[in-house]
Amino acid sequence: MKEYMDRVNEAVKYIRSRTDHKPEIGIILGTGLGSLVDGMTTEATVSYKDIPHMPVSTVESHAGEFLFGSLSDKPVVCMRGRFHYYEGYDMKEITFPIRVMKALGMETLIVSNAAGGMNPNFEAGDIMLIKDHINYFPTNPLIGPNDDSLGDRFPDMYEVYNHKYIALAKEVALKQNLRLQEGVYLGLTGPCLETAAEYRFFRTIGADAVGMSTVPEAIAAHHQRNRILAFSIITDMGLADNMHPCSLENVIRTASETEPKLRDLISGCVARM
Ligand code: HPA
Repeated sequence: MKEYMDRVNEAVKYIRSRTDHKPEIGIILGTGLGSLVDGMTTEATVSYKDIPHMPVSTVESHAGEFLFGSLSDKPVVCMRGRFHYYEGYDMKEITFPIRVMKALGMETLIVSNAAGGMNPNFEAGDIMLIKDHINYFPTNPLIGPNDDSLGDRFPDMYEVYNHKYIALAKEVALKQNLRLQEGVYLGLTGPCLETAAEYRFFRTIGADAVGMSTVPEAIAAHHQRNRILAFSIITDMGLADNMHPCSLENVIRTASETEPKLRDLISGCVARM
């Protein structure tokens, strides 16, 4: 763990040589949230590839950089490009930037992702506020030695998703006339989407949406005592009794069509944080 935190500190030292920006809020721009940066005033951009020990994004649709600046007058850092388990990264690599952002000053983490909807009341193009999650990855980012200065060995999972921010998001959505769903996100490895039998199973065990990210980052951020606010864009429906082929193009199209709504919702929430 010491070596891991040494690597985090070296990454932070490099970033500090480029900017003294102190972000209060970290934002992970998932599929379909790229345009959030249009509403941001950027002070500094640091490419992942220049940062010591930082993994580099392999997914073409994700640029790999930290953007430092402000959104709704709050100091934020945006991760443009995140790391997925299906790409071959391990949990410590996936959560490395979460540790880095904390060391830079982050208190709140905002996460977005694209997900398949399993709650029959949802439809593609909906935004779901994540109230809770199911870790269906075969592992956990906290496995291994614990750094007690960072967080507890056995963190409880009470209020991973901050209750005040959940209420705030609902209020902002209401003001913006936006239909906001809420539910449980189940995170798994991918890269396959799910079979009908798997969708049925995940629905049965209490999940409303399923995707390939967010859970590792949320566990690390909760461990280090960040407040978390998270959203899924429902890009396709996984209803066991009504299956259709699902293409990546469709997922990306629905995500980009929904993006402006999520962007306004997040800016609105940040303004009141
Ligand atoms: N399953 C898993 N991940 C996803 C899906 C899905 O249906 N849609 C977008 N990401």
